[in-house]
This record gives sequence, structure tokens and C-alpha cells, in this order.
Amino acid sequence: MKVLIATDKPFAKVAVDGIRKEIEAAGFELALLEKYTEKQQLLDAVADADAIIIRSDLIDAEVIAAAKQLKIVVRAGAGYDNVDLTAATAAGVCVMNTPGQNSNAVAELVFGLLVFAVRNFYNGNSGTELMGKKLGIHAYGNVGRNVARIAKGFGMELYAFDAFCPAEVIEKDGVKAVSSAEELYTVSDIVSLHIPATAETKKSINATLLSRMPKGAVLVNTARKEVIDEQELLDFMIVRPDFKYVTDITPGNDVEMKEKVDGRYFTTPKKMGAQTSEANINAGIAAAKQIVDFLKNGNARFKVN
Ligand code: 3PG
Repeated sequence: MKVLIATDKPFAKVAVDGIRKEIEAAGFELALLEKYTEKQQLLDAVADADAIIIRSDLIDAEVIAAAKQLKIVVRAGAGYDNVDLTAATAAGVCVMNTPGQNSNAVAELVFGLLVFAVRNFYNGNSGTELMGKKLGIHAYGNVGRNVARIAKGFGMELYAFDAFCPAEVIEKDGVKAVSSAEELYTVSDIVSLHIPATAETKKSINATLLSRMPKGAVLVNTARKEVIDEQELLDFMIVRPDFKYVTDITPGNDVEMKEKVDGRYFTTPKKMGAQTSEANINAGIAAAKQIVDFLKNGNARFKVN
């Protein structure tokens, strides 16, 4: 059996070594495709793969069709919007994620971005503190929970909205559960996004919602760019010169954002949320173990299709 790691943005070497150990201990072979620049390289590499470990790499119908022996794809991470689930299911390919494995890394970056934003991007001007500010956590999954845990250390007041997580679960963490996104944005000085990119959430963060936020508000996005209505965000920021946007996912209109709302907008050059040795080890090794358990024992616990 051949397991391919296909990562445009490579794992730390220590994580690749750990994955190799798991795969080889199971008697399987490991192949590595990193930092590829052409889709053809991916199409060639998947041709004889029985299993693939990916990150944000695009697994579309063409890749599935090229992977004639493919039985399982594991997205080492949380969001699997980069995998064509319909094509995978039609081809009898199991798709899994590794929920929770990189969530602390992403949550820590939220605060890296936030301190940078409220201190005016370290331009020397007097900024503000996080202590006492109202933080709205938009979706209370693995990352949202870690954000809540860290925010308590900063002395923030916590609110969360999650359409699927019961209020009791949120409130037992000392976080006030609100009953709609509208309410969350109205009450929060800062909103941290943790919603997945789905048909329902795409472009859902729009000017109507953002205009509910108070003066001096900050939106921090470590989730997906697709959930933002980018044109509306830009237009809104032009009419709201107090508003800041910090993101770990470069928007489609990055050049225009830099031109028109300079000094209130920042994006990491490449998505860095899960880019720590610890997260790479956790998610990568979990992916390897899930593949071995699936191929040897048929365990499909983290199947998403
Ligand atoms: C995830 O969904 O797990 C995160 O967005 C991390 O993505 P990455 O593996 O591409 O860094």
C-alpha cells in the first residue's frame, strides 16, 4: 500500500518523520510531494497512491479520477472544503479530517493578530488593550473553545454564537451564548471567525452584519476567506475608518485592500494558523494513524463523506 503526503505547504520535518514511522511500521510505503507548483505534479503523484494525506491542497474530481487506486484521503486539519466530497463518494473514496489536532495553534495566532491590530500594527501610536473588551467567538468548535480559554487569560468578556452547539456547552466554559450572529456582532468589540466554508456560510460576513459592530471594532479571520463578502468588507471599511480587519487568509482583493484601507488591514502572506511543529505533528500523525486503522481494520471514525 502506498501513502502519499501531498502538501503544497509542507509539514515540519519532525512531523514528516513521525508520519513515516507510522506508515512504515504498518508495512506501507510513504511517498512525499511537497511545494508542488503545477497541478500535473499532483496528478502524477496520486496515480499509484492508495491513501493521501493533504492540508489545504485541492482534491477535485480530476485528482480523484487520476488516483485509480485511491481508497482514502485524510485532510490533516479541520476544514475539508478543499476536497470534492461528491466526486470522492462517487469513486468510493473515504474522506476524513483530523478534528481538534491543530486548533490550539490556530487559536494562539488569533491573539498574535489581535495584539498586533489593537496596537496599531506596531506603528508607534497609542493603541488599546484586550483586557475588558468584548470578544465574540463566531462558532464554538475546537478552535473557538481554545480561543475562549486563551481570552480568559487576557481578561476579555466572552460571547459566542454557534448555530449547532448547545448554549449549555458554551456557557459551562464561562462564555455567554447569544442566539444569533446579529446579536454577536452587535455586542462584540472584536469578532473572531471560526465558521467553516459551506454553501450556507459563503459570503455570509457582509456589510449588514459588520455595521452592527461598535466603533473601533476589529474582525479577525483565521477561518476561510470564502466566508467574507470581500467587496462589501472593503466598501464597509471605506465608510468606517475606525474598523480593522486582520486575517490569516489573503483575500481575493488584497491589492485593493492594501491601497484603500492601508493601516487598518493586515494579512499573513501564507496561511500560518496551523503552521507549528506541534500542530503538524498532531494532525500529521493523527492522519497517518487514521489511514493505517482504515486500511487495516476498516475503522472510518472520522469519515466526513
Ligand atoms: C484547517 O482547516 O485545519 C486549517 O485551516 C489549517 O489549514 P492548513 O493545514 O492548510 O494550514
